[in-house]
Amino acid sequence: MAKQRLPKPGTIEVNPSILSADFARLADELAVIEKAGVKMVHLDIMDGHFVPNITIGPPVVAKLRQHSKLFFDCHRMITDPRKYAPAFVEAGANHITFHIEVEKRPAELIKILHDMGITAGLCVNPETPVKAIEKVAPLCDMVLVMTVHPGFGGQKFIASAAKKVKTIRKIVGPNVRIEVDGGIDIKTTPIVVGYGADTLVAGHAIFSKKDRIAAINALRNACK
Ligand code: DX5
Ligand code: ZN
Repeated sequence: MAKQRLPKPGTIEVNPSILSADFARLADELAVIEKAGVKMVHLDIMDGHFVPNITIGPPVVAKLRQHSKLFFDCHRMITDPRKYAPAFVEAGANHITFHIEVEKRPAELIKILHDMGITAGLCVNPETPVKAIEKVAPLCDMVLVMTVHPGFGGQKFIASAAKKVKTIRKIVGPNVRIEVDGGIDIKTTPIVVGYGADTLVAGHAIFSKKDRIAAINALRNACK
């Protein structure tokens, strides 16, 4: 299978989060969103420690890899992002995100991920200031701005957290993707795109709808 790459900056991408999908039918869910023409899928990895919820780990990612050619964006809400990086790469992750809140030497981890042949992402929680990532953000391929407290789908968008996108865009320039995650729907999409986000993670807004394809198209139309 050809190695999937992060879509080049310059396009707006809808990035469905499987957290609100039917976990008993994940392969089918991926097939449907692929049909909608999305290039990537956001896999939420939770360890029950960094966040108060537990989802999937490398074995599930590896099985999904057998069913899908989509770019796997692995948002790892875990306490030990270094320890588990090789396992996720081996499972078929194309992009690995870690949280700045649990990594003391982020530049080093970004290099480790690049050396493993994948792209690297850095994530900030709503209460984490931009200052925490200003030096290292330009080194990664995609910055992830949480617009809810991580752990659960279907929460209310935190407008003050979204505003950080503006500052981060100034810091990283046009060549690093900025992903927003949490409470993204047709109402909040124009706000975050206006701030400079280009990658829209959406769980509830897609998978709570019977027609996933129509929901993805509605998000695309909301950016226009
Ligand atoms: C929450 C996850 C999100 C989640 C977003 O911790 O990181 O990716 O699925 O869910 P919605 O789009 O439902 O707010
Ligand atoms: Zn996420």
